[in-house]
Amino acid sequence: MSANTNITSSEKKKVAFIGAGKVGAPLAAHLAEAGHEVTLAQIRDGSETVTKALARSERLAARPISDALADAEVVFLAVPFGAIETLLPPLANVLAGKVLVDCTNPVGAGLSHGLESRRAGSEFVQSLVPDAAVVKAFSIYGFENFEQPEFPEYNLRPTMLYCGDDARAKASVAELIKDCGFEPLDAGGLVQALHLEHMTLLWIRMVRMHGHSPRLTWAALRQY
Ligand SMILES: NC(=O)c1ccc[n+]([C@@H]2O[C@H](COP(=O)([O-])OP(=O)(O)OC[C@H]3O[C@@H](n4cnc5c(N)ncnc54)[C@H](OP(=O)(O)O)[C@@H]3O)[C@@H](O)[C@H]2O)c1
Repeated sequence: MSANTNITSSEKKKVAFIGAGKVGAPLAAHLAEAGHEVTLAQIRDGSETVTKALARSERLAARPISDALADAEVVFLAVPFGAIETLLPPLANVLAGKVLVDCTNPVGAGLSHGLESRRAGSEFVQSLVPDAAVVKAFSIYGFENFEQPEFPEYNLRPTMLYCGDDARAKASVAELIKDCGFEPLDAGGLVQALHLEHMTLLWIRMVRMHGHSPRLTWAALRQY
């Protein structure tokens, strides 16, 4: 079922996914079912994750990476962090002027920050594609919540914190966050990505090491 049920749809966008595994596949399917034109980038021949992801929705398509990215307005990056240093530099030109949604997390030994907290992974991503507008999002929870973002027993949607330096890019990503079933919450500039990456480590340690449910999410309560 689409996460978009009962949510006002945003302007339809051309979206491409680099990475169609546990994170990329459910998000791509939600956005396709919400009416966006979603293309999975074929990076490697015979990629099982792309084949399996395509089976989630008839509205999904797969194309060679250069074609998928050339047409896209928004590109999701959902590959292992260790892959990006090789993968991204040759894509810098085609990604120029596009929104790049960074879903990656640098996770190091013993569930520590993979860049020793000296720099955010998303700042590293931005340095590799300087003319793209990087927005960190869809990073602070495990994939279980991307599969199933609904919490029907609460009158709330799970909050998705996101950050980036380009206001228009963030506004665009906020709409896609809604279409995936989450409440977007702007956490500030890309400098905040380091703190989102620490939120991720908190979640991973609580869930994967200390027995909390993988359906653990955060919600934002406000009093105006
Ligand atoms: N898993 C989670 O709960 C979770 C939650 C939030 C964020 N994240 C972050 O999201 C990112 C993706 O995680 P995931 O769990 O979705 O991983 P995954 O299930 O292993 O999927 C990884 C995807 O990236 C592709 N890929 C792997 N190595 C590649 C390379 N060297 N070059 C190009 N493509 C490559 C894979 O394609 P093939 O099929 O060809 O291997 C696959 O489509 C990671 O950075 C992770 O830290 C994960």
